Amino acid sequence: MNQIKTGPFAKILALILLASLLILVFTWYTSEPDIINNMHSENHTTFINLPAPEIAGDVSVEEAISSRRSVRNLQEKPLNVFELSQLLWSAQGITYPERDFRSAPSAGATYPLKLYVIVCKNGVDEQNIETGVYLYVPKENILKLITKEDIRSDIYQFALMQAPLDSAPVIIVMAADMSRTTDRYGERGVRYVHMEAGHSAQNIYLQATAMELGMVVIGAFDDRNVKRSIKMDMDHDPLYIIPIGYPY
Ligand SMILES: Cc1cc2nc3c(=O)[nH]c(=O)nc-3n(C[C@H](O)[C@H](O)[C@H](O)COP(=O)(O)O)c2cc1C
Repeated sequence: MNQIKTGPFAKILALILLASLLILVFTWYTSEPDIINNMHSENHTTFINLPAPEIAGDVSVEEAISSRRSVRNLQEKPLNVFELSQLLWSAQGITYPERDFRSAPSAGATYPLKLYVIVCKNGVDEQNIETGVYLYVPKENILKLITKEDIRSDIYQFALMQAPLDSAPVIIVMAADMSRTTDRYGERGVRYVHMEAGHSAQNIYLQATAMELGMVVIGAFDDRNVKRSIKMDMDHDPLYIIPIGYPY
């Protein structure tokens, strides 16, 4: 029988080729985004791509202002992903990409506001947006998964058992990284951040009204426990809890 003779040089070459192949496969496995529909993961973190926002609608600003109300009777019916995306965009979405300016004004364009999204059980009518807590990333219009835990009962408990928190399919928690603004403006920056939260929350109110959704801004809650149950970044502090859903 004929045998192929391989010299030491061929063996070394084969080993180098094998090692390169292994490195290639490993690099691809650990760093390439694993794209499944609207979901991808990088460095073990899951991201959800949100649909692009609509910038035209059927309801005038005047109509939205005149019919805006705080609504506390909310159905458990899920929101769809377009509604969720639109609400987040109204609060902090990018409206001037050349300079990353957002939908709400910000002192010195420091943009301290952070939006956490609590998706309650079956809260969003989209397969990939599972129960859990997410952080909205305005620049990429994506959600970053923080935890898959269902934290509704904690939030309800730590916000004085206010009824809308017991039924809303989605709860936005508006938080702030104060230092982004206080580093520039000192103590006065705190006042600016609170003003900014008002601008942003009013945008959500008007957007929700235009989409016939109900919501209320909640300021009465236990900061420390809310922060802990959301697994909020150490540098962020909660300002508003905003349950949103279809009104009865
Ligand atoms: C800073 C702030 C904190 C609030 N906190 C709560 C709250 O904890 N719970 C609640 O049900 N409503 C809360 N609200 C909503 C007000 O109760 C509501 O805006 C007010 O009753 C007027 O009703 P309207 O929003 O329908 O005009 C808050 C509003 C603001 C501006």
